[in-house]
Order: sequence, then C-alpha cells, then structure tokens
Amino acid sequence: MKWILFFGALIGSGICGREKFFGDQVFRINVRNGDEISKLNQLVNSDNFKLNFWKYPSTFGRPVDVLVPSVNLQPVKSFLKSQGLEYSVTIEDLQALLDNEDEEMQHNKGQERSSNNFNYGAYHSLEAIYHEMESIARDFPNLASRVKIGHSFENRSMYVLKFSTGEGRPRPAIWLNAGIHSREWISQATAMWTSRKIVSDYGKDPAITSILEKMDIFLLPVANPDGYVYTQTQNRFWRKTRSLNPGTHCIGTDPNRNWNVSFAGEGASNNPCSEVYHGAYANSEVEVKSVVDFIQGHGNFKSFIDLHSYSQLLMYPYGYTVKKAPDAEELDEVARRAAKALASLSGTEYQVGPTCTTVYPASGSSIDWAYDNGIKYAFTFELRDTGHYGFLLPANQIIPTAEETWLGLKTIMEHVRDNLY
Ligand SMILES: *[C@@H]1O[C@H](CO)[C@@H](O)[C@H](O)[C@H]1NC(C)=O
Ligand SMILES: *[C@@H]1O[C@H](CO)[C@@H](O)[C@H](O)[C@H]1NC(C)=O
Ligand SMILES: [Zn+2]
Repeated sequence: MKWILFFGALIGSGICGREKFFGDQVFRINVRNGDEISKLNQLVNSDNFKLNFWKYPSTFGRPVDVLVPSVNLQPVKSFLKSQGLEYSVTIEDLQALLDNEDEEMQHNKGQERSSNNFNYGAYHSLEAIYHEMESIARDFPNLASRVKIGHSFENRSMYVLKFSTGEGRPRPAIWLNAGIHSREWISQATAMWTSRKIVSDYGKDPAITSILEKMDIFLLPVANPDGYVYTQTQNRFWRKTRSLNPGTHCIGTDPNRNWNVSFAGEGASNNPCSEVYHGAYANSEVEVKSVVDFIQGHGNFKSFIDLHSYSQLLMYPYGYTVKKAPDAEELDEVARRAAKALASLSGTEYQVGPTCTTVYPASGSSIDWAYDNGIKYAFTFELRDTGHYGFLLPANQIIPTAEETWLGLKTIMEHVRDNLY
C-alpha cells in the first residue's frame, strides 16, 4: 500500500521524467575588473562546459552565478584558476535542494487536498494557481474577476485577475506581471499572495482601498505558462518560452527580449540556443503578443510592474540604452521610497537604478516597451535572494518575500494614484 502511494505520488507530480542534477554545483565567480568581465563573456559564449548561467557577467563587483554540471566541475575549476578568477561554491548539492523543494510541494498538495485551502506559503502547479484565481473571483465577485487574455504556444490559457470597483469606461490601470521567466518561482508565488492580499485588504487598508477607488489593477501571475509547466515536469531551470525555432533543435525565446522596443539590440542574442534569444521578430511569442494586445486595446495603463528573481533590485527604464529616461528622476525617487518601505519590514536591502547601468543592457524588455508606449511608471523587481538559494528560494520565504514586496508595490501604486496623467 505504501509503495502504491509512493509511486502514485511520483507519477502524479511528473518528477519521474524531470532532469536530475546529481553532483552538479552552483559557483559564484567574483568580478573585479573589465578584463575579468571579458574572460567571463568568453565563457558565456563558448558551449564547452555546458554551463547554465543564473547571473550573467554585468558590472564590476556584481558576481556571476553559474550552474556547473558534475562532469565539468574539475575542468571549470582549472579554467577559472588558470584565468586568475576567484570563485566559491554557493550550492554544493543542487539535487538535494531540488528534492527538498519537490517533497515539500507533494506534501503540501496532500494537505491542500484534505483541507481544501490554497496554501500561499507553498509553490504550486499551474492548474492549482488557475483554480485559486477562479476561487478569488468567486469569493469577491464585486471586486475581482478572472479574465482570459489569450493562450500560450502550447495552447494553455493566459489568465489575469482584474481588480476593479468601478464600471463604465476603462479606468486608469496598473499591470502587475509575474513569471515571464519560468524558473523564477518566487515571482509567480508572490503574485498569488498579492492577489489574495488585494481582496482581503480592500475596505480595510486605506491605501489599497483608495488606490482601487481610482484605478483598476490587472495581475498576470504566470506570464509564461508553458515554461512554468516545463520547470515542474522536465527541467527546473527552464527560463524561456517553449516555442519551436525552425532550423534548430533549440527551443524557446526569451520573452523578456521579445517586446517591440529596440528589438534585437544590445543584451539580446540572435542565437536560438541562447537563454536570451530575442525571437524571430518582435512579439513573435504569443504570450507577449497577448499582453501587448490587451494593454493596447485597453489604452489607459499608467503603470507596468514586472516581478522577476533573483538579486534584490528595483529597476526602471532604460535597459536598452545608457541614456537617461526623461522621467528618470521621478522614477528613481519613487523606487528609492519603495525600496525603503520594503526594507522596513525585515531589513531586506534592494539596490535601485536604471536596468542598463545597474545590471546589464537588455533590449526588447517589457518595462522599456511599456515606458516607450506611454506607460510612465514602469518598474522591474528582482526579488529575493542575492544568490544563496538563487532560483531555489525555499517555500518558507514566500510569505516573508511577498509581505515586504507588498510594501514596495503599495508605495509605487500610491504614487501612481496621486500622479495620474
Ligand atoms: C486550444 O484550447 C482551446 C480551449 O482552451 C480549444 O478550444 C482549442 O481547440 C485548442 N486549440 C488547439 C489548437 O489545440
Ligand atoms: C513595432 O513598433 C513600430 C513603431 O515603433 C511599428 O512601426 C511596428 O509596426 C511595430 N512592430 C510590431 C511587430 O508590432
Ligand atoms: Zn527574470
């Protein structure tokens, strides 16, 4: 009986087929000067060691995190040594972390089945997330509704939660985007906690109440549903979409390089095998196109906030150029206040600045597109942590992360409310 349950759980979760990372490790490599950046960029561009970069080389003082397959541990160590690059091992046993994460998910699934309650402190399947979105809309019919804005490449629905207290013509609105990079699970989880927070605090917390008196909020918790399912069934570290690229076996496009803004510029790759492949043309990804069409059809968005992980950064345009955005001063001031509010809860420190100079150039990104299309209050959060767990942030940090992020989000949304244009 026990064995039947055991195998049932394995099959049910789909982990049987998921890629294993036995013996693999994550290295952190220090970056002290431009010479080291170019050495590391060579490593990025060579496919020799089958590396998976969690944090790309960017600027001095910002370390690089990279997943090294067990067979290449020695060769990579030798290479780093020969180049005089300083490194440490940040995750010694990657598979152990994956096993923990999976066990917790299975355990939680069992508990949810018996209690019939969505646990906001756990990671979930796409199906469970969509189901909970439906429940929120059903529980708060005068405030929330679940809207289908399109479908993914593999034909999964794309759902947003719309929070609105008004009728008639579209009110000024805020777009909260999450999970565009599928492996950044804290993003989807934070978005779900945030939706529940909005409905439970409306009418109690004067801040969110007054925001919703003037504006609507649209929240897309899983902007890349195919990728998200893939991280749970095939490879936990999948980042891109799952669209096919003609002429190559390499799959997927980086949906955060695919927006119609300085498309195919700096910080994106024209190689379909790259993690930052920009796609065949702007909006080639149906997931991106669905959001673009919705936002343009609505026509009254004032803010676009994209949740990613990890690094603890709060950034604003531009990513595609070092030039200052016309509203840089105002955006910087708001972001600093938001970061301060966020830190007030438990001291989590965020760095603030424009994407391009804070991390690296990135063309075709969501917030640059929003900004250049008249949506002034455009921000990207890189949530917890700074690399200790990286993408494998333990579930017991979901609620602390979401709670502090909420303070930052509210600061931004209040500023938007007070500065409608
Ligand atoms: C996609 O899914 C919808 C339902 O969500 C279905 O009606 C449609 O036939 C599907 N299309 C394809 C090509 O599978
Ligand atoms: C991209 O934007 C330009 C205007 O900046 C427009 O002319 C072009 O049609 C757009 N392309 C797509 C694919 O939407
Ligand atoms: Zn991301």
